Amino acid sequence: MPSAIQHAGEARSNTDREKLTRLEPHSLRTFTPTQAVLAKSAGIYHWTSEGRRLYDFTSGVLVSNLGHNPSEWMRRFSRSMGWGSGPNENRFFSAAPMTAYNAITPVEVEATQKLIALLRKSPGGARMEQVMWAASGSEAIQKALWAAQARDRTRLMILATRFGFHGKKGLANAVTGSETDSERDPRVRFISFPMTECRDVTVRDEPFDPTPYQKELDALLHQFGRKIGTLITEPYLGGGGSYHPPKAYLQLLERFCRANDIIFILDEVQSNFGRTGTMFAFETYGIEPDIVVLGKGLGNGIPVAVAVGRLDVFSSLDYGEGSDTWSANPLCCAAVLATLDEFAARDVLAEMKESSALIERGLVSLKELPVVAHVRGERGGMVWGVEFRDHGTRSASEWANAFVLACYQGDGASGDGIHLLGPLSKKVVRVAPPLIITPQEATTAIDLMRRAAKRL
Ligand SMILES: Cc1ncc(COP(=O)(O)O)c(C=O)c1O
Repeated sequence: MPSAIQHAGEARSNTDREKLTRLEPHSLRTFTPTQAVLAKSAGIYHWTSEGRRLYDFTSGVLVSNLGHNPSEWMRRFSRSMGWGSGPNENRFFSAAPMTAYNAITPVEVEATQKLIALLRKSPGGARMEQVMWAASGSEAIQKALWAAQARDRTRLMILATRFGFHGKKGLANAVTGSETDSERDPRVRFISFPMTECRDVTVRDEPFDPTPYQKELDALLHQFGRKIGTLITEPYLGGGGSYHPPKAYLQLLERFCRANDIIFILDEVQSNFGRTGTMFAFETYGIEPDIVVLGKGLGNGIPVAVAVGRLDVFSSLDYGEGSDTWSANPLCCAAVLATLDEFAARDVLAEMKESSALIERGLVSLKELPVVAHVRGERGGMVWGVEFRDHGTRSASEWANAFVLACYQGDGASGDGIHLLGPLSKKVVRVAPPLIITPQEATTAIDLMRRAAKRL
């Protein structure tokens, strides 16, 4: 058991860190050198138990796209749950049931309809016909893969892009990473993702030579033929270290799937609801998936995920084969409804453009530092990765962790800091503030970050 992380001047937080180091296994979290204790949150800010304010540059792992506890979202959410009125004489609210297992709730009907309508009107959403609810991203991925496999049980092989992250459970884990990870599933084959072609801050239309990727796909087709039934990819490698590909790569995968009747699954658990500058990354990249998997920002903080896609594919699963206790729970559906309504009520994506450009410029300027190797991200979107390099006596990983810590500590002047998670792939620090960050907040936070970086 590692010892609890402690920071000077954080007596309350240190006590909580100590308690949970004893009472929870450390495997529950990935390593982050700050181990922030977040007592409350509003908008783009967290406050520590000591009352220090932190700019949230993670959106709680890309969850709170609309910011933390947005009041209008909360009102919509509570209204859908029926929590607006006080308790009746029997001490119970007359509100949405907190279960949907083998039952249907009106909030589920409304959320399902609205989600499909939004997806279908988005360019590339023509195949979005049914919603398979789930409670986490990995579960939704698992259900998407189950459905794709059930379509034709003689075609169980799955192609997955190498170094993708789709979750840690079951089939989601089987399609994560690469063939060198332990205990690989024999049904899965990995294909190359153009990591070396990923420029610093992707413009997406850059020239791309498909030849080596096409050859790889052709070779697999030659070897396995119609046994290959499914292909899964992320639009950009998120957990793998922020690699944002040229459009032409994803379009090549789509063409390959179409030509060979292979189900094309796009994992948008991270990219959905605006991260790439459009509502869904399939619009940004000009592709039309058979199944798209949504999560994280979908519930803006409430745990919910879905696989949405072709009716003929989802119909291949029989009663109960996609069911579980929490799927389509009214709490989840009300959260999705609130998210959909909030995006419909405001042009969040247009509003974020200026902040996006300011943050991109600020992050790219970090490359002046000898320890920063690359800044990759989505132009016009709200997700970047700052990659560190070995320098002097310290490794890239040590510099990345030192950066996270320096941002957390801030510069003492305002007392503010910046909340970041521990590095991805050991050396890439992800920057993904809520989409609603204002240009002024973006400028102040980026200045704070630059000052922290200079102190490294
Ligand atoms: C692209 C992607 N897919 C799937 C997952 C798994 O989601 P969950 O952690 O909700 O199971 C993640 C989580 O980080 C993700 O980024």
